[in-house]
Amino acid sequence: MSLSIPRLIGHRGAARHAPENTLSGMRVGALQGALWVEVDVKITRDGVPILMHDDDLDRTTTGHGPVAAMDFADIRRLDAGSWFAAEFRGEPVPTLAEAIQAAQLLDINLNLEIKPCPGREEQTAGIALSMALNLWPTDRPPPLISSFSIEALSMAKVVAPQWPRGFLMDEEPADWADIADRLQAATINIDAKKQTAESIQAFRATGRPILAYTVNDADQARQLFQWGVAGLFTDTPKGLYEGLIGK
Ligand code: G3P
Ligand code: CA
Repeated sequence: MSLSIPRLIGHRGAARHAPENTLSGMRVGALQGALWVEVDVKITRDGVPILMHDDDLDRTTTGHGPVAAMDFADIRRLDAGSWFAAEFRGEPVPTLAEAIQAAQLLDINLNLEIKPCPGREEQTAGIALSMALNLWPTDRPPPLISSFSIEALSMAKVVAPQWPRGFLMDEEPADWADIADRLQAATINIDAKKQTAESIQAFRATGRPILAYTVNDADQARQLFQWGVAGLFTDTPKGLYEGLIGK
């Protein structure tokens, strides 16, 4: 399936301007002109897919301990906004279902990064994507499914074979090209700060669009676009647009 990749993708919503992985974050990303936002997906102890980056609740909520050790009803009572700014006090941890609904209302697409808690790679991808497939409107372009976890992407290929997969890398393994082929990855998603013109050329030689994270500086963005990167994850769509084309 052909992908229409935007230049800028709101990272965790718009992480510089609103609490990450919340509906407010998605709204702010969309209002800042991001045509896609990226969010991180985990499952709770009782198997509810939610938006959350960290394995533990402590940094971005008023809760404590592992996400995998708490049921959704208890996570739902937490405040996921006040750590960021008082104006977001009371912001709940959203479900994936709510995020999919919000994306329709905001008229944006999603990059769903499957971010499993340790040992829950296949389960997280299986549960989250089965649910997302049921909820995703057939008249909208599909989401991009990405993960650092090869197990999660392999499961995505089974559960939602028709949805494009992004092979997300931190340390790039020597056999990354073989893995990308095996996963039938539609995109290569890489760490912007580790790249050179040569590395981007090597990724592009596979014929896949390249997405780079996380870029908040206009000079860095220009360089990456010049090297042939298709799209950038940014915490500040507004700031980066202004940096690239003026206020
Ligand atoms: O998907 C790109 C980026 O979000 C990966 O890193 O740690 O922000 O999830 P992280
Ligand atoms: Ca992410």
